[in-house]
Amino acid sequence: MFKPLNILDDRHKILRKISKEVNTPLSDEDKITIENIIKHLKYSQIEKKAEKYNLRPGMGLAFPQLGMLKRIIVIVHEYEEGKFKNYVVVNPKIISHSEEIIALETGEGCLSVNREVEGHVPRYARVKVVGLDEDGNEISIRAREDLSIALQHEIDHLNGILFYDKINKKKPFFNENEIRLI
Ligand code: NI
Repeated sequence: MFKPLNILDDRHKILRKISKEVNTPLSDEDKITIENIIKHLKYSQIEKKAEKYNLRPGMGLAFPQLGMLKRIIVIVHEYEEGKFKNYVVVNPKIISHSEEIIALETGEGCLSVNREVEGHVPRYARVKVVGLDEDGNEISIRAREDLSIALQHEIDHLNGILFYDKINKKKPFFNENEIRLI
């Protein structure tokens, strides 16, 4: 039986707190939570399932969005039509990034922000993220484009940062000469 997650929205102050590093291997409880997040995110990106369960599409979630201040992020990336790859990173860190800055042309969204917020969110075009898997093995991910943006967005959640914090209030939109819009 699939039960949609209970995701906190940005009125909750917990989303503004710094999450704590997590010891590995993860508890069974945390592993189950991760499985539930993966299922929710995947279904949210499959039109029929999203409709059936009334899910807003999202490709990533961080533990604080469920009220748990733990440094764990989950991304379900549709890398090809109908094909998904899951990324689970415990205690993630960006250890290097491109000089190049990009932004999603239509702006970012977040499962904790239940409204449209307009504006470009500048992000690194490429990042290298290191961290641990659920069992405590070291992992490293090189990401570009939308996956790079998703990793930065989710890691921001662990530091109490929401995507709209990074929109320049005076100049919310960039043009193609300033940053690459994807
Ligand atoms: Ni978010």
